[in-house]
Amino acid sequence: MTDTKLIAILPGDGIGPEVTAEARRVLEALALPLAFEEAPVGGAAYRASGHPLPAETLDLARRADAILFGAVGDPAFDGLERALRPEQAILGLRKHLTTFANLRPARIFAGLEDASTLKPEVARAIDLVIVRELNGDVYFGDKGRRTTDAGLREGHDLMRYDEAEVRRIAHIGFQTAAKRRGKLCSVDKANVLETSQLWRDVVIEVAAEYPQVELTHMYVDNAAMQLVRNPGAFDTIVTGNLFGDILSDQASMCVGSIGMLPSASLDADAKGLYEPIHGSAPDIAGQGKANPCAAILSAAMLLRHSLALPEPADRIEAAVAAALATGVRTPDLGGTASTRTMGDAVLAAL
Ligand code: NAI
Ligand code: MG
Repeated sequence: MTDTKLIAILPGDGIGPEVTAEARRVLEALALPLAFEEAPVGGAAYRASGHPLPAETLDLARRADAILFGAVGDPAFDGLERALRPEQAILGLRKHLTTFANLRPARIFAGLEDASTLKPEVARAIDLVIVRELNGDVYFGDKGRRTTDAGLREGHDLMRYDEAEVRRIAHIGFQTAAKRRGKLCSVDKANVLETSQLWRDVVIEVAAEYPQVELTHMYVDNAAMQLVRNPGAFDTIVTGNLFGDILSDQASMCVGSIGMLPSASLDADAKGLYEPIHGSAPDIAGQGKANPCAAILSAAMLLRHSLALPEPADRIEAAVAAALATGVRTPDLGGTASTRTMGDAVLAAL
């Protein structure tokens, strides 16, 4: 990489700025040709300019090679109309950037088995990634409310996918699996849903291009069960927006703290938005208690997926593991370290 890459830093609200600052320090320490530009988003942006996703922030997101996002959400604005609430910023960014692939890795770091709600020997085996479709499905289909002739209130949300939408996320699933342990599990509800039957047909077609990947199919209800029964059996899971939303939250909690889990949302050119899966955590904001690991690990994903820099990404992940191995823990992991102290420990390990 010769030319300088622009990273948009959108810290947002609550603990967003606290954890994003640590992720930025880690990126800066790698001495790569990166330039950083910050812009307000969410409640912070609403305070400054009256809109959660101001035009300048969206412009920066579009110009940047990749986006490091903190979190949005501020209880002070709970009473605002929906379009002006901080959370609209992340939805607006995903829509404008057409990020359709959401990658959520869940793996357990050595020594954190105790933090999981699963038995240590079950938790220890978790090393999986969920590839969730982010632009379609029941969230974006026709929806509405009406009163029926019988006078009953009725609501509907249309579940739909076309084959192009399934094909592009299937490719991401196979490519992800090919770089890992070569096992892809496609999750659907093909025994009941037409969309799922189409999903399954298309995934099987795409599989012909990836002979090195072993493909299996699983119904979503069974997948939910297997994720807590024997999560170590999963390598890569590819699934639709609704099933992926639920399964990825479930998988993430199996590995301990929400403060450990990064994510990537990618578009067709692998431009991406990277963020910890947690929110703005108003209950601990401003107290230096937030675990910055999820934000730091999101920065590692940014290097790997948007900048094609796997080596420094590996270094960041190894540094997080090494820092945790020294026993430094934020309160969510049962320790007393501050956000800054945890960041310092990762920097020292780098
Ligand atoms: P949350 O993820 O902010 O917090 C849930 C619980 O986990 C809290 O007890 C919090 O203290 C803890 N927690 C979260 N991140 C942590 C970290 N890094 N270290 C230690 N503890 C951590 O979810 P909640 O409370 O439901 O939502 C708070 C606000 O965040 C809401 O306004 C919500 O809409 C917003 N939100 C934003 C997201 C985003 O920006 N992508 C995602 C989820 C929620
Ligand atoms: Mg969710």
